[in-house]
Amino acid sequence: MVNYKELGLVNSKELFAKAMKGKYAIPAFNFNNMEQMQAIISACVETKSPVILQVSSGARKYANQTLLRYMAQGAVQYAKELGYEIPIVLHLDHGDSFELCKDCVDSGFSSVMIDGSHLPYEENIALTKRVVEYAHKHDVTVEGELGILAGIEDDVVAEHHTYTEPDQVIDFVTRTGVDSLAISIGTSHGAFKFTPEQCERNEDGVLVPPPLRFDILEEIERRIPGFPIVLHGSSSVPPKYVETINKYGGKLKDSIGIPEDQLRKAATSAVCKVNIDSDGRLAMTAAVREVLAKHPEEFDPRKYLGPAREELKKLYMHKTENVLGSAGKA
Ligand code: G3H
Ligand code: 13P
Ligand code: ZN
Repeated sequence: MVNYKELGLVNSKELFAKAMKGKYAIPAFNFNNMEQMQAIISACVETKSPVILQVSSGARKYANQTLLRYMAQGAVQYAKELGYEIPIVLHLDHGDSFELCKDCVDSGFSSVMIDGSHLPYEENIALTKRVVEYAHKHDVTVEGELGILAGIEDDVVAEHHTYTEPDQVIDFVTRTGVDSLAISIGTSHGAFKFTPEQCERNEDGVLVPPPLRFDILEEIERRIPGFPIVLHGSSSVPPKYVETINKYGGKLKDSIGIPEDQLRKAATSAVCKVNIDSDGRLAMTAAVREVLAKHPEEFDPRKYLGPAREELKKLYMHKTENVLGSAGKA
């Protein structure tokens, strides 16, 4: 049993309270390997932003759960070495069982998500409550989810959004005791969030997707004022990365994300945590493809993973400074 406090990590409670007051959102960036972790930490230290390091069950399988946890511990030391201490949360993304959440609490995570959103309502409540009871004994914060995002959540695929029902939120948060709630208001996972048919072209010919359902968000805020809300599926899918990937041999078609102005607006509301994974994948892939296409003789991984790490860092700095408003808040 390792408690996250021994590792120098923090839970999300105080960070969310400050984000709510200050009208910004904390970035939750997924990581699976060392370069991603280095880019996240160096970007957040440089912009003085608090950060949530997010680990999915897929990441645990890919990178080995023990190694990932030591990397998070290393991240705390790394931030100190870079010269500025930022609050770092280690969070389980889309936990799908009590056992997985318990394992994470027991091995040094400071926050877990239990995603019962695909279960019938009462089963979601029962599972979430069980995780909360265990996690809170160890001062670990818990994120629950109500409503289903279109797209892929780990192994679960949903064709359509089921928007969060504002009428359910008071009942859900009071009966489960969760610390934050992920909601469905039109975001979705991955790099293909909308079809071109769902979008309109603006005067510059750029495809603009339908706006997020801020009406539902406002209704939820009215029911549970001051309660931290989480947005999953919040990558913006920057066209420059898609263009670079396709220019150097990739084949990404019709990839469309959440416009940054929508996320900026969300960050000033009760949304305290914004999840971004796909944009990092795109930035890395674009940089790796470009180096390998321009330098086919290269075979030292540092020569393509190094530039990928640099590009990731730029992306994360942009998110904290220009999208979420978390820069300068650590
Ligand atoms: O919401 C899912 C995250 O992007 C994690 O993706 O399960 O492929 O690691 P993953
Ligand atoms: P994106 O696929 O939009 O980056 O969303 C990531 C996410 O929600 C992780 O939980
Ligand atoms: Zn998610």
